[in-house]
Amino acid sequence: MTQLTPVLTNNWDVPNAFTLDGYGEYTAAKKALTTIEPDAVIQMVKDSGLRGRGGAGFPTGMKWGFIPQNDGKPHYLVVNADESEPGTCKDIPLMMANPHSLIEGVIITAYAIRANYAFIYVRGEVLHVIRRIQAAVREAYEKGYLGTNILGSGFDLELVVHSGAGAYICGEETALLDSLEGYRGQPRLKPPFPAVAGLYASPTVVNNVESIASVPSIVSMGADWFAGMGTEKSKGFGIFSLSGHVTRPGQYEAPLGITLRELLDMAGGIRQGHELKFWTPGGSSTAIFTAEHLDVPLDFESVSANGSLLGTRALQIFDETTCVVRTVLRWTEFYAHESCGKCTPCREGTYWLKQVLKRLEKGQGTEDDLSTITDIADNILGRSFCALGDGATSPIHSSVKHFREEYLKHFEIGGCPFDPAASTVWG
Ligand code: NAI
Ligand code: SF4
Repeated sequence: MTQLTPVLTNNWDVPNAFTLDGYGEYTAAKKALTTIEPDAVIQMVKDSGLRGRGGAGFPTGMKWGFIPQNDGKPHYLVVNADESEPGTCKDIPLMMANPHSLIEGVIITAYAIRANYAFIYVRGEVLHVIRRIQAAVREAYEKGYLGTNILGSGFDLELVVHSGAGAYICGEETALLDSLEGYRGQPRLKPPFPAVAGLYASPTVVNNVESIASVPSIVSMGADWFAGMGTEKSKGFGIFSLSGHVTRPGQYEAPLGITLRELLDMAGGIRQGHELKFWTPGGSSTAIFTAEHLDVPLDFESVSANGSLLGTRALQIFDETTCVVRTVLRWTEFYAHESCGKCTPCREGTYWLKQVLKRLEKGQGTEDDLSTITDIADNILGRSFCALGDGATSPIHSSVKHFREEYLKHFEIGGCPFDPAASTVWG
């Protein structure tokens, strides 16, 4: 039985863990800055096998290694704290409970990639998180962990907390950089990747909160310790966020490769008297799974092999009382609202998906509408400028695949079978 591995979450119950008194000294930063060369820090993170925790799983140390050295340009580190994938709730609690693990990670990462300026880009709606991070940054400055000649190492770092304005697209790394530069946030063409031309056209590492907050533990405990957890290609631990129809929803930190069945055992199971119907492995942009996927190891490879993506490990759990058509409509309304409008397949496609799904959910559709939504999704997938468009098609394709009968039932009875007012009972 896989056990929880609290590292990032180990002090969340400690009163004042969010202050330096509660967190303690920045021992990992001190070790890195005073005893390890920057390139050796990069090698350590490469050896650990840490992969990006924002969803895509790109190897973190490899990304750092792309930053050119001795190029005469300033380098930047940007922490993507714009968490907004539906169901994802790991970075925000982490920043509230344990902001110093992130700041310590920022210092080590900036040192490794030779950046003297770093930014934490936090989504604008979460004012309480912005205040918490700002207070922690102030404490770190006062203690000499930020600013000039940090811990007597000769290394200088200025850290700025920047508030976004609440657009989902600004979590896409290049839209985030545009927003940080003061422009309207829209994705840039890649390549060049930010590691070559990012913020102000300079080499920039953009990493997720959880990725950076994992770095101090790797420096303290060693690459082998981290690589000893998880699976062969998905190493280490991660925060799994369970929400929805679960007895004890919340954040569960465990090695990658744990299964939903094991996580549900820890979370008290599906709420009493009900059973699992469908779930997302990594937020609404990842294809939905059903009870047949309870034993799929939650690592990058296994989830992909089963037709979905590990994504942000946002496990949204739905029991048999949930209408899958209404859920997919709700997600699609979100994508249509958040589409930045830059490219036609996503801008027009998500709008039309929403319109047809509304009709289907009300029981006013026809079987042709099912072909229409899959056709529209086929024309978005692989033809959009960024991952938002592709993500919007995942719930469509997977729900039609697993729950075609439920779609048909809607127009057979002329309404939603889960609506208590429906004249015909589902099943
Ligand atoms: P991606 O696979 O294009 O890139 C991942 C990272 O690797 C980026 O930082 C990119 O710059 C870097 N990279 C990739 N190839 C590179 C190369 N050849 N050279 C240098 N750097 C390279 O994925 P993307 O579009 O950045 O992210 C998509 C993921 O984001 C999805 O899987 C989804 O799960 C996740 N996501 C997360 C959200 C959240 O709230 N955390 C919201 C929406 C999506
Ligand atoms: Fe904008 Fe959607 Fe195109 Fe991405 S896929 S650039 S969000 S319109």
